[in-house]
Amino acid sequence: APSKLWGGRFSGATDPLMEKFNESIHFDRRMFKADIVGSQAYVKALCKQSILTSDEAATLHQGLDQVRQEWEQDRFEIKSGDEDIHTANERRLGELVGAVAGKLHTGRSRNDQVATDMRLWLRDAARELVTFTRDLVRVTMERAAAEVDIIMPGYTHLQRAQPIRWSHFLLSYAWVWQQDTERLEQLIERFNLLPLGSGALAGNPFCVDRELLASELGFRGVIQNSLVAVSDRDFVSEFLFWASLTMVHVSRFAEDLIIYSSSEFGYVTLADAYSTGSSLMPQKKNPDSLELLRGKAGRVFGQMSGFLMTVKGLPSTYNKDLQEDKEPMFDAYDTLHGSLQILTRVIATLTVYPERTKASLSPDMLATDLAEYLVRKGVPFRETHHISGAAVRMAEERKTTLADLTLTDLQSLHPAFAADVAAVFNYERSIDNRASIGGTSRQAVLAQIDSLKQWLGAE
Ligand code: ARG
Repeated sequence: APSKLWGGRFSGATDPLMEKFNESIHFDRRMFKADIVGSQAYVKALCKQSILTSDEAATLHQGLDQVRQEWEQDRFEIKSGDEDIHTANERRLGELVGAVAGKLHTGRSRNDQVATDMRLWLRDAARELVTFTRDLVRVTMERAAAEVDIIMPGYTHLQRAQPIRWSHFLLSYAWVWQQDTERLEQLIERFNLLPLGSGALAGNPFCVDRELLASELGFRGVIQNSLVAVSDRDFVSEFLFWASLTMVHVSRFAEDLIIYSSSEFGYVTLADAYSTGSSLMPQKKNPDSLELLRGKAGRVFGQMSGFLMTVKGLPSTYNKDLQEDKEPMFDAYDTLHGSLQILTRVIATLTVYPERTKASLSPDMLATDLAEYLVRKGVPFRETHHISGAAVRMAEERKTTLADLTLTDLQSLHPAFAADVAAVFNYERSIDNRASIGGTSRQAVLAQIDSLKQWLGAE
């Protein structure tokens, strides 16, 4: 197979089935731009070492531009034998500029090349995802700001716990997505290092200026060991973990809204644009967008665990198993790319029903406030907890609510109860009592909105 880049030592042909099994062009073509840009930087570095004359360098640079345009204009013709994006681009470059193309790969290996391409590709992809998570934070925060005063039950164990603001609930996710954004930005910083100039594994014999390569390609530094440069895929693992964790958050929020949109709750309905109907039951309006978001979380976790299994037993350094790194990375990116945008739109277009959320509050949710009332009268909290619990039991036995117990009833449980206890049975008051930083009071919620606004503005 003399046409192959590596064909020199071979006399036998590749089994066509093996050819198909081995190729990665059908997915790694997505990195065409990174591959071209990486090669153009390498041309510059080779020229600096006088491996290329400046004329040759200019020819190669322009030729690579042409190859890039063919990809961009969807004119690039993949030929049989184009094993991957690296061989395809080099083959095409040779057709366009002739024998000088054969100098491009001097001292380079597809091992340092592919590691470089992937980091470049993921850097762009991750920066784009950062804009989506930021949009998600902004839209969620704006919704919270517009609906600050809607109140609802807060839950633990999915049991009604204490009254909270709807905005406080929304902001809890805005904060989580703010963390996801920062986490991804930090991840980009960590992996934004240059592998190129490491050769197949042992380093570059032509002393290419790796600092130059790094600055040409926008890397913040150079990977300091050639063996790790060609074999390290921790950036893929970290990205897959980031994607998985972000989908955990997306999925939990989706689950909350799925519950809240059921008729039994009736707190929200999704816009028609993000719901679908049933082919059989005419009345149905199903939250398919949310269910898909929840379902796709599983898909991303699968990519992460699959990839970790791919790398866990590999001997140093490059092994072809690593070709299995790209599809999980692309798939996680594609999934997040869709999910984050859909979720942002679902949140922006949802309808919330403040009467329903408020009507779902019940006086028992103020049992803690009743205990706190006695605390303010000087009774130790542990005692007040029991007293309030006894009040809940009394109300239950009398088939009434906590709010309907008389002052005499309450005083039979503790003498510190006075007429001002009536003020306890007010949901807004309960909410606005929780005024420490991070609480659900109006003022504390407005402070959260302020700091998220600052964060969004500062970035
Ligand atoms: N297509 C290969 C990959 O994705 C490129 C590197 C091939 N290197 C090698 N020594 N066979 O990993």
